[in-house]
Parts: sequence; C-alpha cells; structure tokens
Amino acid sequence: MKMKNSELLKAFRYVWKNQRIWVLFSALISLFMGLIPITNLWVVKELINEVAAVLGGAKQEYTASFLLLLAQFALLFVSSAVLKGQELLDKQTEIKLDHDLQQMVMQKTSSAPLAFYDVPAFHDTIERVYTGHGIRFMQPVKNIFEIGRYFTTLLSFFAFLLSVHWGLVLVSLAGSIPVLLVLVRFGNQRFHLRFHQTPLAREASYLKHLLIDRQAAKEVRLFQMKEFLLRGWSDKYRKNSQELLKLTRREKLAMIGMDGLTALFYVSAAGLIIWLARTTKVTIGDFVALGQAVQGTQGAMNGIVTHLARIHETRLYIREFFQFIELDLSAYEIKRGTAPFPRPLETGITVDNLSFCYPGSERYTLRNVSFSISPGERIAIVGENGSGKTTLVKCLMGLYRLSEGQIRFDGLPLEEIGESEFFRNLTVIFQDFMHYDFTVRENISIGQLEAAADLERVKRAAQKSGADRFVQRMADGYDTYLGRSFRDGEDLSGGQWQKVALARALFSDGQVIILDEPTAALDPRAEMEVFQKFDQLTQNSTAVFISHRMAAARMADRILVMKDGALLESGSHEELMALGGEYQRMYDMQAKWYV
Ligand SMILES: Nc1ncnc2c1ncn2[C@@H]1O[C@H](COP(=O)(O)OP(=O)(O)OP(=O)(O)O)[C@@H](O)[C@H]1O
Ligand SMILES: [Mg+2]
Repeated sequence: MKMKNSELLKAFRYVWKNQRIWVLFSALISLFMGLIPITNLWVVKELINEVAAVLGGAKQEYTASFLLLLAQFALLFVSSAVLKGQELLDKQTEIKLDHDLQQMVMQKTSSAPLAFYDVPAFHDTIERVYTGHGIRFMQPVKNIFEIGRYFTTLLSFFAFLLSVHWGLVLVSLAGSIPVLLVLVRFGNQRFHLRFHQTPLAREASYLKHLLIDRQAAKEVRLFQMKEFLLRGWSDKYRKNSQELLKLTRREKLAMIGMDGLTALFYVSAAGLIIWLARTTKVTIGDFVALGQAVQGTQGAMNGIVTHLARIHETRLYIREFFQFIELDLSAYEIKRGTAPFPRPLETGITVDNLSFCYPGSERYTLRNVSFSISPGERIAIVGENGSGKTTLVKCLMGLYRLSEGQIRFDGLPLEEIGESEFFRNLTVIFQDFMHYDFTVRENISIGQLEAAADLERVKRAAQKSGADRFVQRMADGYDTYLGRSFRDGEDLSGGQWQKVALARALFSDGQVIILDEPTAALDPRAEMEVFQKFDQLTQNSTAVFISHRMAAARMADRILVMKDGALLESGSHEELMALGGEYQRMYDMQAKWYV
C-alpha cells in the first residue's frame, strides 16, 4: 500500500509545487459547490411549501415565492458560472502541466544511452507514457476535491435525513458499496488491457505511418503494398478494439446491474418515507426534499466511489510515468568524466582488445579488435557488409558501452572525457545520416548551431564538399528550406544530400573526422574530387573513412580490413597487396570490373 501511494504523493507534490494557485482555487470551489445542493434542497422545499400554501388558499402573499424563485435562479446561475470558470482554469493548468511533463519524457529519451533504442520494451513504454500527462497528474487532485465536494454534500444531506430517520441514511449508503467494487475492478482491467495492447498498437501505428509517410510513398505504390498495409493495419486495429469493446460491454453490463440495485435502494427509501408520513407530520415540501436527499446521498456516494476508483486507475498510469522517468539506465550508460579532450592530440587513438555485443543480442559483433591511429593519419576501413565497420564507429564515438576492452585518446580512457567536449572533437557522419527538414544553413551547421550565423564558414564547408554549387542556384541560397514536408522547400537528390552531410562534417572544428561511406551516393567525378582533395578537406584533422571503393581506400595512409567482427589485416595499400590476403582479394575483384 505504501509503495502504491508513493507515486500519488509524488504527483501531488509535483502539482503542488508547480500549480499551487490552481490547487487552492480548486479546493475553494469544491467547498463552495459542495454546499450548493443542500442550499438548493432547502430552497426547493420552501418553495413547494409556499406554492402549496398559496394554491391551497392558506396564503395570499406571493412575495416569498418570488424571492425563493429568485434564489433558485441565483443558485443555478452562480454554480454554472463557477463551474465554467473552473473548467477554464483546469484547461490552462492542463496545458501547462502537459507541456512540462512531456518535456520530461523527451528529456529522458533524448539523453538516454543509444542502446535504449535497441530494446523493444522501451519503445512500448515510451508509447504509453508519451501523451496525456497533464490531465493524469491533475486527475487525482481533482478527484480528491470532487470527493471533498461530494463529502460536504453528503454530510449536509445526512444531517437532514438523520433529523427524520436514521434508516434513510442506512438505505442510501448501502447501495453504493457494490458500485465501488465494480469500478475498481474495471479500472484495473482497463489499465492492464492497455498495457498488453501496446506492442500491437505500435505495430498498427507503424503500418499507418507507412501509409502516410512521404518517404515511403514511392515504394508503397511501386510494390503495390497498399492492400497489404491496409489489411495489416485493419487487423491489428480491430483486434485491439474488439478486446476493448468486450471489456466495455462487460463493464456496462455490470453497471446496469449496479444501477438497478441503486434504484432498488431508492425505492425502498421512498417507501420508508411514505411509511413515516403515516406516523409523523410530513409536508409535501418535506416529502419532495426527502426524496431528493435520498437520491442526492446516493449520487454523492456514487460520486465519491467513482472518484476513488479513478484515483486508483490514474495511479497506475502515474506509476508508469515515474517508473519511466526514474528508469535506471546505468546498465547501458557510460559514466563520463569531465576531463578535457586532448588538444592537440599527440599520441593518438588506441583501441585495445575491443569486443562488443549489441544489447539483447547473444552474438559478438566485434571481437578482440586492437589498433591505433596517429594524429593526422588518414585511415580507411574496408570489409564486407555486416563485418562490423559501422559498429566500430559507434563504439569509437562512445555511443555504446563496450563489452570488453578500452578506447583511449592520448592515453586518456574515453569514459573520462566530458561528453560535450568529446562530441566537439570527434565528428562523424553516419551511413544513414539524417536529412533534416531545416534550412541548408542549419543542415550544415547542425553540430554547432551557435556558429550558424557565420555564413562564410558555412559556405566554406559547402564549397569543400561540393554542395555550394547547387545551393547557389536555390531561390533563398543557404536559407532555403530542404524537404517538402512543412513548407515549399526544395528537395535534394541523394548525392546532393550527401554533399550537404559532408559539409556538415567539414563545418565542425573536430580533430577527428569519421565518415561512414561518405561518397556512396556521389557521381564518379564528385567522388574523385572528394578523395583527391581528402587531405586538404580534412587538414589538421585525423580522418577515418569507411568505403567499399577500393580505389578510394588506396589513398589512405593505412587501411584496416574487417571481417566477421575481427580486424583481419592492417597496413598500407602496398603492404596489404604484398600480403596477398583478404584485401588483395577484394581489390582484385573490384579492379576486374573497372578494366
Ligand atoms: N542495433 C543493432 N542491434 C543488434 N545488432 C546489430 C545492430 N546494428 C547492427 N547489428 C548487427 O551487427 C553486425 C555488423 O553491422 P554493421 O552495421 O557494423 O556492419 P557494417 O560493416 O557497417 O556493414 P555495411 O558495410 O553493410 O555498412 C550486423 O550483423 C548487424 O546485423
Ligand atoms: Mg556500415
């Protein structure tokens, strides 16, 4: 129980800290609204008695009736106005809380170790905690105030009923207990249903995404995937919604039963009042008021019970939110120190006996890899698809925790270097670099946006990579938006995008530049240019590039040959050719095509 409530307490504390005024106002409004029903009851009772007296001829005077009518109007109007005001205040608070809490989730996801994204269960959790927090955090607070409001009403009605007969209190109370049980039970079931439906819901939304996404649109048409995707989406959607419907049906049936029970208790109470009327003096106003009080008591009880059940249900969601926010990722995390990156690099990078296994995988993707890179050296990495080249780069960048081994920069272990320092000094353009729907200028300066204002520097990088030529021709030059998803931007060809990405790498003042397949999409002339100018492009930096073009790899000072996660050979082109191993085999195979 203690553990259960700690989540609620945390939510309360959060709301109290951030939305104090809302909490105080809500408390006041609840108290006020709680007293409205009994006031209304009294007015109705008096009104009926007055009207009955007038109609029965016992009274000629209308003033009291009119005054009471006026009071009824005032009650209706004021309570509705107060409620609307409260709704407005609630909406404001919800928006604010939702903003802050969503931001907490995005903070968490964007600072989580990359390995986090390789585990499907994490994606399920993200999906569940992604939206609707504002309302969920407010809910328990609102529920409690609602309970307070109903409680005030309940007490006032009790006092009234007790003044007539204690049995009326008992009958009104008894009807509510089964309702509580039903509501709590179904609240639990709804939560668990949503929980186990998340994976399928995610698959459905993936299919939907493919049907909507611009990037996928070509292939969806060419491969005539429409039917396949639509059917898949529809099956998954229906499976989940049928389960939900089934639960809703059971819940509604149970509620009908409960409502029947409530009605039965009400009728019994009315019978009790009629029976009382035979022995005590009860006016028509009293009779109507007592009936209303019995019903009102039951309504208030149901209200309390419903809100208790809601607190219970919301608690489950809130618990998941905090579990996510407080999720301990230390198993994946790399504890980074605060040491500055050695500048300039003097002895270089050493990779010592590195082995790596992706989280959740049994197989080692890298095995006992050792090599070193001297400052200013140009290294090429070659190897078959899947031999572990990209994985090696991810490890070099410190994106994953190594299974075994060490990576050092001037003898300083990777983990000891402060993260932002580290990413400043190591620049990498991955094979699957991002095409951002931002301006050209932003796309190039993305790693150092604070320097984006320096147009000359952006231009220099673009000139080096060959992007400048086509950017010049664009309507807004470097301020042209790329991509067409959001506004009338310009779209680029695959090779043009690659030139932009290359400019992104050259823009940085990193000491080490790593390029994973930097020229795969470039035409032969552009590719030749890049590699011929490579020295000049990456002047003052150490450069590592991964390429399947053996002719390009040949220009490197040293070539590393990877196979099945291991470093097979290392040396200059001449050395490796003389060795007559994997490199020579790969080189000769490609050379054959080009003669
Ligand atoms: N996130 C991941 N989780 C589990 N396994 C992965 C992950 N990423 C890659 N792998 C596996 O690791 C192996 C090496 O992949 P990697 O991307 O490093 O190869 P590569 O040498 O870069 O290949 P290519 O030349 O095709 O780019 C592959 O067998 C791949 O299936
Ligand atoms: Mg790769």
